[in-house]
Amino acid sequence: MPYWSFGFHQCRYGYKNVADLEGVIAGYAKARIPLDVMWTDIDYMDAFKDFTLDPVNFPADQLRPFVDRLHRNGQKYVVIIDPGINVNTTYGTFVRAMKQDIFIKWNGSNYLGVVWPGNVYFPDFLNPRTAEFWAQEIATFRRTIPVDGLWIDMNEVSNFVDPPMLNALDDPPYRINNSGVRRPISNKTVPASAVHYGGVSEYDAHNLYGFLEARATHTALLRDTGRRPFVLSRSTFVGSGRYTAHWTGDNAATWDDLRYSINSILNTGLFGIPMVGADICGFGGNTTEELRWIQLGAFYPFSRDHSALGTVRRELYLWESVARSARKALGLRYRLLPYIYTLMYEAHVTGAPIARPLFFSYPGDVETYGIDRQFLLGRGVLVSPRWFSLYDYSLTVSTKTGKRVTLPAPADTVNVHVAGGNILPLQQPALTSSRVRQSVFHLLLALADDGTASGDLFLDDGESPEMVGARSKWSHVKFSGAAENGGVVRVRSHVVHDSYAPSRTLVIGMVVLTGLQSPAPPKGFAVHVNGVQVNASTTAGSAAAGNHKNGALGTVHVGGLALAVGQEFDLKVVMNY
Ligand code: GLC
Repeated sequence: MPYWSFGFHQCRYGYKNVADLEGVIAGYAKARIPLDVMWTDIDYMDAFKDFTLDPVNFPADQLRPFVDRLHRNGQKYVVIIDPGINVNTTYGTFVRAMKQDIFIKWNGSNYLGVVWPGNVYFPDFLNPRTAEFWAQEIATFRRTIPVDGLWIDMNEVSNFVDPPMLNALDDPPYRINNSGVRRPISNKTVPASAVHYGGVSEYDAHNLYGFLEARATHTALLRDTGRRPFVLSRSTFVGSGRYTAHWTGDNAATWDDLRYSINSILNTGLFGIPMVGADICGFGGNTTEELRWIQLGAFYPFSRDHSALGTVRRELYLWESVARSARKALGLRYRLLPYIYTLMYEAHVTGAPIARPLFFSYPGDVETYGIDRQFLLGRGVLVSPRWFSLYDYSLTVSTKTGKRVTLPAPADTVNVHVAGGNILPLQQPALTSSRVRQSVFHLLLALADDGTASGDLFLDDGESPEMVGARSKWSHVKFSGAAENGGVVRVRSHVVHDSYAPSRTLVIGMVVLTGLQSPAPPKGFAVHVNGVQVNASTTAGSAAAGNHKNGALGTVHVGGLALAVGQEFDLKVVMNY
């Protein structure tokens, strides 16, 4: 996934025109809430036909300058496309597809379904000519509107009509549960008796439709842009994570769906799709100020606010209290971007999800097995109560295995904690991820009980097609820290790989040590870098007593540093108590 896709995304079904989109961007900027990506749903199309523009509300001569402005501001633009191609002899995409003969067949002709544009045929992505057709259409469309990513929806395939039954494949001796009712397997999709390229039945290929469309879309974008593609797909299968991000589909603006989003995201990560999120604020129904979904959604790997046509709008700046929560939670997400992006690298090379259930890190603690109201980002960050607060490092929680701790959760705050034993690379919050990328780094060391901590940082340009490929330039740095006797903490960096040049100019300006055994502020400090004493500024704070804390631990900020990220260092902080 490209770096920018870890920023915050705003979408809605029902944006009226280009001015409406402009207003949303301005609303975010005015409220000082980060926004990386603006989206447009089927509203931009001419009568819901893929690769067309509504000539009145989203004409090219307005939409193109709008997208150029977004790009100049370091922001991105993503639009939706659906698989069904409108059956319409005046529509170029349809005419070209017919010429290529790439639609799914049924009973001797193209299978006719109904989706947003009315009558449609469905491209058969098993046919190699279809990927070629798709790539051509995308490339042609991008000449008019240079979208940065594509959102592929309705690809189960979803059909508004129930197909007639033709043979035994359409009515096997079992039913599926669709919307809570037992129905034939072809319910609201392409008939199981339909035929794909090579004579493969829809019965056998059904679950691969979204996967194959995602692969074709990914390949098309890669070919046209030369950059790492961003694709978001509703339908997925094993292996989809290589080509696409996923959102959990049409949820509702309810407390229940807010809660279920955690299970859905954790499952999807375990299925090998690390980039996943649920529609923040809820898609269907009217959201409320109190729901404040962004407090959770800011920590989904894929963080997008989306809503259904005709429901109340839910851009984060619309309520002052939600805006406050959003600035706080997204501010933290943006500081964590180097850490989250490093988790993408880990997912890429090991398959470990970005968002993980607690048992993933603590398989020996059976109490974690059923926990589905908290989750981890990597091994270091826990979303909801426990450990050291990431807003105030002095708020420490230490618990023994199996113990539950209840923490205060003021309305504008979501509890987010770093696990002792971790070193998190942080950057400075900004309104776009491209600004964050240029800012100074802080290293946060949360020492474990045994006085050690470790962590990783992965850096690259965020958009080269191959993460760690033969032609890519990247840097990977490992950090380790340890408390030694006599009030000494050592922090070392080890450069595993360094071909990304900016890693030698980006600096770590501050190192924060938390989890120090001595809560009392030290009387004096000495800071050495590679054996040489340097003038660093230090401030100390200690964990105050309080009923939500368990044991008092010290925190020390070592500022005024200028450690190049890509150069190995040995930092020694000597604290005199
Ligand atoms: C589907 C999608 C939803 C989208 C709508 C209109 O319901 O799941 O996200 O807004 O179609 O395109």
